[in-house]
Amino acid sequence: MAPTIEAVIFDLDGVITDTAEYHYLAWKQLGEDLDIPFDREFNETLKGVSRMDSLERILALGGKQDAFSEDEKLALAAKKNEHYVTLIQHISEQDLLPGITAFLDEIRNAGLKIGMASASKNALMVVEALKVRHYFDDIVDAATVAQSKPHPEVFLRAAEALDVEPSRCIGVEDATAGITAIHAAGMYAVGVGPESALHEADYRVDSTDLLSLEQILASR
Ligand code: BG6
Ligand code: MG
Repeated sequence: MAPTIEAVIFDLDGVITDTAEYHYLAWKQLGEDLDIPFDREFNETLKGVSRMDSLERILALGGKQDAFSEDEKLALAAKKNEHYVTLIQHISEQDLLPGITAFLDEIRNAGLKIGMASASKNALMVVEALKVRHYFDDIVDAATVAQSKPHPEVFLRAAEALDVEPSRCIGVEDATAGITAIHAAGMYAVGVGPESALHEADYRVDSTDLLSLEQILASR
C-alpha cells in the first residue's frame, strides 16, 4: 500500500504565481543583448533551473560558453536579475494563479503540512508580495541549496525541514527539471502544465484551477 501522504511541497515560479513568464522575459532580454535569441520551447529547458545554470545553457545555445570570464558571467546574471526584479516590482495577491489559495486551504484543512522548494533567490520576496507566507510551514530556496533541479536536493531539504519522509510527500511543479527532481527525491510528482513538458509526472493538470487534493490522493 502507498504510504499516507503527510505533506505537499510546492515549487513557486509557475505554480503559485506566473513569475515563470517574467523569468522568461528577463532571460529573453538578456539573450537578445547577447545576440542569442531563443523561443519558448528552449525556455522549457530553463524552467526550474538556477540562475547561473540557466545562463550557462543560454551561452551554450549561442556557442558562447567560453566567451566570458566568471566575473563577466556573474555580471550577466546580475543584469538578468535586474530585468526580473523590475518586472515583478508590482506583483501582489492579484498575481496568485487561479485556484491556488483554495488548493492551499484544502491541504491545510486536511491536516497536511505545506512546504516550498524553490530554485529562486527571490522566492521569499515573491511569497511576501503575494501575501501567502502564512500558508507555508517551511520554505527552502536557492540561498541554502548547492545543487540545482533536476537534482533532488531542494525537495529533500524541504521534506527534512517539515520532518516528513520523502515517500509521504507530494511535490507540485510546472517544470520538466522539477518533475525529475521530485522523482529523484522519492516523492509523488504532480505536474501543472502541458503534457509535452510534464509527461513524466505521476498526475498532471493543465492549469492550477484544476488542482484538487482529493483527486490527487485518489490518483495514487
Ligand atoms: C526558478 C525558475 O524557480 O528559479 C527559473 O523556474 C529561475 O526560471 C530560477 O531561473 C532562479 O531564480 P532567481 O530568482 O534566483 O534568479
Ligand atoms: Mg517553476
